[in-house]
Amino acid sequence: MKESQPSAIFLKDYKVPPFLIDKTELTFDLEEATTIVTSRLHMRRNPAFGKSTAPLVLDGGEDVKLIGVAMDNYSLPPEEYRVSEDKLIITATADKFVLTCETLIEPQNNTRLEGLYRSSSMFCTQCEAEGFRHITYYLDRPDVMSVFTTTIIADESRYPVMLSNGNEVERGKTEEGKTVVVWHDPFPKPAYLFALVAGDLAVKNDVFTTQSQRDVKLQIFTETHNIDKVDYAMEALKRSMRWDEEAYGREYDLDIFMIVAVDDFNMGAMENKGLNIFNSSCLLASPETTTDDNYLRVEAIVAHEYFHNWSGNRVTCRDWFQLSLKEGFTVFRDQTFSADMHSETVKRVEDVAFLKTAQFAEDAGPMAHPVRPASFIEISNFYTLTVYEKGAEIVRMIHTLLGAEKFRAGSDLYFERHDGQAVTCDDFVAAMQDASGVDLSQFKRWYSQAGTPTVLVTDSFDESTGTYRLTMKQDTPATPGQPTKLAVHIPVRVGLLDPQGAELTSSVQGVDAQEHVLHLTSNEQDFEFTGLTARPVPSLLRGFSAPVKLRYDYSTTDLLLLMSSDTDGFNRWSASQQLAVGELNTLIKQSIDGETLSIDSQLALGFKTLLNDASLDPAMVALVLALPSQAYLSELANPIYPAAIKQARDFLKAQLANVLIEDFKRVYHEHNVTGEYQAVAEDIARRSLKNTALSYWVETGNELAQQAVLDQFQSANNMTDQFAALSIAVNTQHAKAADLLSAFYEQWKNEPLVVNKWLMLSASQESDAALTTVKSLMAHPAFDLKNPNKVRSVLGGFGQSMSGFHNADGSGYRFLADQIIVLNKKNPQIASRLCTPLTRWKKLQPELSVKMKAELERILAEDLSKDVYEVVSKSLA
Ligand code: PHE
Ligand code: ZN
Repeated sequence: MKESQPSAIFLKDYKVPPFLIDKTELTFDLEEATTIVTSRLHMRRNPAFGKSTAPLVLDGGEDVKLIGVAMDNYSLPPEEYRVSEDKLIITATADKFVLTCETLIEPQNNTRLEGLYRSSSMFCTQCEAEGFRHITYYLDRPDVMSVFTTTIIADESRYPVMLSNGNEVERGKTEEGKTVVVWHDPFPKPAYLFALVAGDLAVKNDVFTTQSQRDVKLQIFTETHNIDKVDYAMEALKRSMRWDEEAYGREYDLDIFMIVAVDDFNMGAMENKGLNIFNSSCLLASPETTTDDNYLRVEAIVAHEYFHNWSGNRVTCRDWFQLSLKEGFTVFRDQTFSADMHSETVKRVEDVAFLKTAQFAEDAGPMAHPVRPASFIEISNFYTLTVYEKGAEIVRMIHTLLGAEKFRAGSDLYFERHDGQAVTCDDFVAAMQDASGVDLSQFKRWYSQAGTPTVLVTDSFDESTGTYRLTMKQDTPATPGQPTKLAVHIPVRVGLLDPQGAELTSSVQGVDAQEHVLHLTSNEQDFEFTGLTARPVPSLLRGFSAPVKLRYDYSTTDLLLLMSSDTDGFNRWSASQQLAVGELNTLIKQSIDGETLSIDSQLALGFKTLLNDASLDPAMVALVLALPSQAYLSELANPIYPAAIKQARDFLKAQLANVLIEDFKRVYHEHNVTGEYQAVAEDIARRSLKNTALSYWVETGNELAQQAVLDQFQSANNMTDQFAALSIAVNTQHAKAADLLSAFYEQWKNEPLVVNKWLMLSASQESDAALTTVKSLMAHPAFDLKNPNKVRSVLGGFGQSMSGFHNADGSGYRFLADQIIVLNKKNPQIASRLCTPLTRWKKLQPELSVKMKAELERILAEDLSKDVYEVVSKSLA
């Protein structure tokens, strides 16, 4: 352990910056081993800070070597400045001056992948959140916005493409024959949006004509061998640009928009002004190598980063506590975009399933934090599901409370009022409130309170008056640092069905409608529906109108009715999940108690209806058929018995498969359409239903089904079907599973993104040798500890294997902890993310819990990065 541990910084301590930087001029003399960065910062004291003689304190990194510093061309002698661990402090400054700094950095040795680093044969940067300080000394905070001019000097034979933000304004040669390219970005921006790329790259060009008839040049750059895989991303980009004009009235501002794909990247992608940088796994797509899910992901991420140009870049965050200002809003925007491009209900179900699994787990664990956190040790740890996905739910609730039209007026006002500013979540809500006249003061508690509220619903019916009453109680559990909670404003969308499943009209506070939005604002509240003749079945929280855990004691008959008849597609799915969870919980309990599993599944009935209803969207049928995941069942459980969850799920799946074998077989064949691959909703839907049906059919052990898996693996003309066949073979321990895995590797060993999928699947295999397998994967030539995608594939895959990760002897936990300790030094962000499964130790069954905790303690004894220290120490607190 270190002698002094890193300390937290607090939102309440926010102060405006003492200095501003009007212009930033950067020169990069690019060399792999040592790059020299010269910065000329046009600075002045910030009038908003008040009169002050405070010293100038610039942020830097331990990996930045200061060569020299000058003030208005007067080179400072050592006694006039001080370099501490990560700061450059200049005691005396004028009110206005130009500060010149020369620093040396080592891109080649940068394994953190923050700042300037090398990926394959190129240079690239990543500056969000605090990466710019690893390039040069700066006021590295988002409320310091500056106009950047960037000069890149490099050897053109190796780096013919040299890019930065904005427009290329000059090109020339140095005396030594190196090429010089100058870029200028007219929009003031924080340093986290700075980007630079240099490499021998291929480009795909296109043009987008904006609504005001301006032509924008579009360019996607990749390494040469990948340029045939960017067509889909380019089309997605154009759809995004059009959609933002139509849905939000937002037009692109520069004359050029560039995207670059890099193989080594900590996250998915980054919205640098005019120069987005993508993890290649989130950009490249081709039918042979990319699954449907990945296609949709590429589209969503291209859109997300593009949308940041307004929600993030033109209007940015005042400080990092406000991260959800840009991320929550932008996720909401990309979700709506994807819904518009494909199916609204399917998209909603997928997003909610993810939220309820992963974000709810985070909100119930030791790292639980508000959407706008009050403190942090390392901001990189706060790029979380809470900030992103729950943040998007908050924006969605505002949309529900205001209605589409007023929401649009609110977003227009927000962009107009704050264009070119760095603002807060409060500013966002204020614009929404001012434009709509809707009071959002209580609603704002969603930003500051952590934890998932529970809404407990009971009901009664008064036959004499035809009045149906819902009583709702809300309660938000205590979370670290927040022992007590206040009531939040929860919009609950509700409809009522009659016992035959027909939608009823009812009256709430004098308003007649089939659907009502109830405003639950107190701890306990009654809602009355009048004009009814019989007791209805309530369809509650339609479309998942608030991120809460809603509890209502539905009978199986009610759930089957909702599943088959609700007009709200989302709640049809939700009912099926509740039914499945009920049955699975019975089985889990039997398993924990050591009983023989048995159940008379009612779910089979619901499934049968679905499988025989040709009018349904096959994608929705597939979603209903997919049993709640092990991860979701773990989130619901307390304590978690991983092996019991797996056993229960396997048992129910096999039982359903046997009962409905003929239906699954038929549906498999009905939807097994061949033809040219297209990543369009209709085809994606059919493939997903077909492959779900196959996964059940195979469970029966039927020989034809076993053969169908092999045939599909061999003959598929697209990665979706081929990989589905492979996954089914591996997950059902098909006799040929091992052969298929090696055949797959042989076929795709030259396609790194496909190899990553192979690594993931191989690492997640259930077997007594799971740990040995994962160790051999890490020694495999296809593995590379420096590449985040590969680390995620292997260690993420391993985390899904019950027999491997949750092995009773604790060897799985020990192995993961060992990897975290190694990565802590190389790439703290990735190391910190790998800790997530270990943070759940308190909820685990006692025998496993102690073993997991011991591994966290072992990690804590190491000399840790801020990133890993924060997660591990908070988990043990
Ligand atoms: N801002 C990026 C996004 O949400 C995510 C990101 C954060 C990427 C930090 C890199 C580093 O689109
Ligand atoms: Zn984002």
